[in-house]
Amino acid sequence: MLPSGFETERLSLRPIAPNDAPAIFAGYAQEPEVVRYLTWRPHQSLVDTEAYIARCLAASPARARTYVLVGRTDSRLIGAFDLRRPEPHRLEFGYVLAQPFWGRGLMTETLTEVARWALATPDIWRIGAVCDVDNLASARVMEKAGLAREGTLRRWLVHPNLSLEPRDCFSYALAH
Ligand SMILES: CC(C)(COP(=O)(O)OP(=O)(O)OC[C@H]1O[C@@H](n2cnc3c(N)ncnc32)[C@H](O)[C@@H]1OP(=O)(O)O)[C@@H](O)C(=O)NCCC(=O)NCCS
Repeated sequence: MLPSGFETERLSLRPIAPNDAPAIFAGYAQEPEVVRYLTWRPHQSLVDTEAYIARCLAASPARARTYVLVGRTDSRLIGAFDLRRPEPHRLEFGYVLAQPFWGRGLMTETLTEVARWALATPDIWRIGAVCDVDNLASARVMEKAGLAREGTLRRWLVHPNLSLEPRDCFSYALAH
């Protein structure tokens, strides 16, 4: 079972819930700027966000969990962190933050805590993710959280807001 939450200095991560849809839609899911390097297009309406949450909740919490990031003091929902365990020994993740909160170290803080937990957990040997080669902010977050760039995966993912052709991605991981 993946954890039911995480705590960092400024944020709490808790499992996504159906009534998070309005905050996610209004906060970031419909922003072209935010989803530029993601695998999905901006949500057009609340219905898209509700369908996304339903897909998150359909996953087995042993294998995949989506958490929302909320401020510890104001409980405001400002982003999401997706954690997957495709095999028992390794984790994959993805993350997104509402634009007004970029550049304050919040995702570095989040990933640092999740990665710390991962490598302190018996049987987990690796945590990693990929990002578009042009997504410099995401690459930097992973570097600051201690992950190493392992290489470039050619034509790895389609990022439909950039191009319909699959794009090159950097692979990052922390392992022991
Ligand atoms: C990627 C993202 C989560 C980063 O979150 P954040 O909380 O702003 O990140 P942090 O503040 O912890 O760190 C960002 C780092 O990237 C750097 N950075 C930001 N934009 C950059 C750019 N265009 N070029 C180079 N570096 C950049 C910042 O300067 C900072 O590094 P520094 O502390 O050395 O100065 C956020 O930008 C986001 O949600 N983007 C849209 C969704 C997305 O792309 N998710 C990742 C998919 S792989």
